[in-house]
Amino acid sequence: MLNRNISLYEAIGGGEGLRSIVEAFYPKVQRHPLLGPLFPADIDPVMEKQYQFLTQFFGGPSLYSDQYGHPMMRARHLPFPITPERAEAWLDCMSRALEEVGLEEELRAIVLNRLSGPAHHFVNTTE
Ligand code: HEM
Repeated sequence: MLNRNISLYEAIGGGEGLRSIVEAFYPKVQRHPLLGPLFPADIDPVMEKQYQFLTQFFGGPSLYSDQYGHPMMRARHLPFPITPERAEAWLDCMSRALEEVGLEEELRAIVLNRLSGPAHHFVNTTE
């Protein structure tokens, strides 16, 4: 049973846990036919930003905002055609990454649920 008095950041293993998740996630994104073409070949800077963003998103230190200011994540995604199918694909890659790093099922469901809102909110085109 999940301890509800700690942040999601702590529950997923803090910085170390999040690092593993991000490292499991991006290879899946890069291999995905709908997602891979949107990303640069040099994925390391993207991984670092995602690590910083998800750290604060899940209740850890504000690493992303400290460096880049207000996240404005929907605006930052506007240059990319994000369809409903791509939002689902992104969440599916994340789901498999969470499973790969061994998070328990209840925790996986909570994390995915928290990401599902933003993912669908970033949809900006139907094609
Ligand atoms: C809905 C499907 C999504 C797609 C297709 C998508 C795609 C992308 C792409 C193409 C980039 C730019 C990579 C580059 O630097 O060239 C990006 C950046 C980023 N995405 Fe997503 N994304 C999605 C959802 C999300 C979600 C749900 C989150 C977090 C809640 C997220 C967080 C980020 C962050 C933090 C960056 C880096 C922003 C920056 O440049 O500072 N993305 N995404």
